Amino acid sequence: MSGAPDLRDREANLVLVGFMGTGKSAVGRRAARRLGRMLVDMDALIEKRAGRTIPEIFRDSGEPCFRALEREAVRDLAAQRGLVVAAGGGVVLNPENPADLARTGVVVCLWADPDEILRRVGGDEHRPLLQAPDRGERIAKLLEQRRPLYEAIPDRVDTTGRTADEVTDEVLRIFERRTKTE
Ligand code: S3P
Repeated sequence: MSGAPDLRDREANLVLVGFMGTGKSAVGRRAARRLGRMLVDMDALIEKRAGRTIPEIFRDSGEPCFRALEREAVRDLAAQRGLVVAAGGGVVLNPENPADLARTGVVVCLWADPDEILRRVGGDEHRPLLQAPDRGERIAKLLEQRRPLYEAIPDRVDTTGRTADEVTDEVLRIFERRTKTE
């Protein structure tokens, strides 16, 4: 089988990408439960394999090392089927990642306005890229830099002002449409 994904395949992965705080994990948990599938949280997988937390990897080995581990996780997960995957927010930085994930899965990008993201992740100490004196400014800047990468994902859902259950309904509608067999 070459190139084009065969998504008329109920075993296709469902992959959630999007900026930090857009609800990938919360929606991923709900979607996995409803599909009767396993959820793979890519950050947790990377931590488990490395035997270190993400802040430790960033602090001791730097972001390029984290991105290499993330790349490895993408390749492994894209070779599997029947998963729900919650990716890390920066997975789109390497264009090979979303391309690989789309080969065996339906990739859905979650979006939220910067103010809402700040409300959701404002007090978080576990995200190295948000450890800045002005967190709102940091979020706005990163989001603007990455916007074209998120917008390049064909299926996107704006989560601003919506509950995780509402977003899950929409994500599952997209997944069903993309995997329909006729
Ligand atoms: C990152 C997002 C994080 C984690 C790492 C880098 C990013 O994942 O992978 O801190 O570059 O946006 P979440 O989106 O799950 O917070």
